[in-house]
Amino acid sequence: MNVSRLLITIDGPAGSGKSTTAREVARVLGLAHLDSGALYRALTLALLRTGTPEEEWEGLEAGTLEDLDIALEPREGGFEVLLEGESVGPELRSFEVTRGVSRLAGVAAVRRRLIDLQRSVAEEVGIVADGRDMGTVIFPHAHLKVFLTASLAERARRRLLQEARPADPAGVREEIERIRQRDEADAGREIAPLRRPPDAIEIDTTSLTFEEQVGRIVLEARRRVAEGLTGEDCAG
Ligand code: CDP
Repeated sequence: MNVSRLLITIDGPAGSGKSTTAREVARVLGLAHLDSGALYRALTLALLRTGTPEEEWEGLEAGTLEDLDIALEPREGGFEVLLEGESVGPELRSFEVTRGVSRLAGVAAVRRRLIDLQRSVAEEVGIVADGRDMGTVIFPHAHLKVFLTASLAERARRRLLQEARPADPAGVREEIERIRQRDEADAGREIAPLRRPPDAIEIDTTSLTFEEQVGRIVLEARRRVAEGLTGEDCAG
């Protein structure tokens, strides 16, 4: 197996550092980064823009979701999410989107809407995909599956730093509560819940530096390539 065709999945709870880690692992190994959370965020934004009330999200039909024009455009290092052909940027991480996204991500038709889009990008190039169900549902035959965790307090602290918000005790407490609610919704839903894939390596990053966590994944990926393991071999 060639490094350039590796398929690596990184799943984990909110704020565990999946996206930044996945982006760096992809850069080091020369792969493309797929941020699946951005797709759920983009659909959330699209529905907020059309003014569809949140109470109606559960009942959304496949046809309505197909009509939402969402695409992944290859870019340096990975893919950019386009809505109606336009890049969306920082709006994807707005407070409103983050507040609504887990509710929308629990809707079966929404998850089905995004399956082919995610799988199709992995047909042509090697990728590092991060999200909640990458190793369990979208890419069950990935060559390497990683499950990233960190303590709730550490994840809240990192999230506040990342977004340049005050990390005082009250701020941390509020962020812990927001993250806890999202974790509960993501792990508690019926379809594609957040789970550690049984064949994933788990890395608790609470007391690791960023370089250390990236280094572990890169090392493991190179080891698997050297040993010529495939996804099926790894699962067995
Ligand atoms: O970066 P952060 O951990 O805050 O979240 P994200 O990866 O941007 O994902 C935002 C939300 O999308 C998650 O809380 C999930 O509700 C949903 N999501 C999902 O259900 N499945 C995925 N593969 C990725 C994200």
